[in-house]
Amino acid sequence: MSGLDLLSTLAVLLVAALCLSILIVQGLTGVPPLSSNSTETAAVVALLRQAGLAEGAVVYELGSGWGSLVIALARAFPKAEIRGIEMSPLPYWVSRFRARTMPNVLLRRGNFHDHDLGDAQAVTCYLMIKPMPKLAALLDRTLRPGTAVVSLSFWFRDRQAAATLESPGRLGAAALYYWPARRA
Ligand SMILES: C[S@@+](CC[C@H](N)C(=O)[O-])C[C@H]1O[C@@H](n2cnc3c(N)ncnc32)[C@H](O)[C@@H]1O
Repeated sequence: MSGLDLLSTLAVLLVAALCLSILIVQGLTGVPPLSSNSTETAAVVALLRQAGLAEGAVVYELGSGWGSLVIALARAFPKAEIRGIEMSPLPYWVSRFRARTMPNVLLRRGNFHDHDLGDAQAVTCYLMIKPMPKLAALLDRTLRPGTAVVSLSFWFRDRQAAATLESPGRLGAAALYYWPARRA
């Protein structure tokens, strides 16, 4: 086998492994790595503006995927620190590349359930129906009361949203909660 053949084989194996890693993480989390589009990120930004982020606010983007929402948040709130956490290696490394020049973005690879979110002033997420109850339990354990939480498309069904915003994007409305937002 020539050097070129070996390189091509290694490249194919690497791409196959990265694609497989997407399927494996999706199987573990039950969430595909879809990106939010610009109208959806605009809805999240508008709700966070409504919540009035302070200068230097820490915002966690849980399941930051390919980085679309992290980047939109970092542009909209240049004085905030946007911390994205993503489990899937390929989206994570792509997001690192996309946000490489943004000083107010910090990206971590891992499971957001292993993180204490106690210094958050706001949290955003765009997941699926199934992980929402377990995420609510994490937020109950770690968030300070009154922390703004914005969920795109999939809502916390047992919590009271303070505001919602319909988005003409493909997956519907975003909801703002002031955690724990328990229903009366
Ligand atoms: C629908 S995508 C949204 C990506 C991004 N938030 C956006 O709006 O463009 C959801 C992402 O959450 C990630 N995810 C799901 N559960 C996770 C967990 N427990 N820890 C870290 N990432 C997780 C998935 O791998 C996926 O990339």
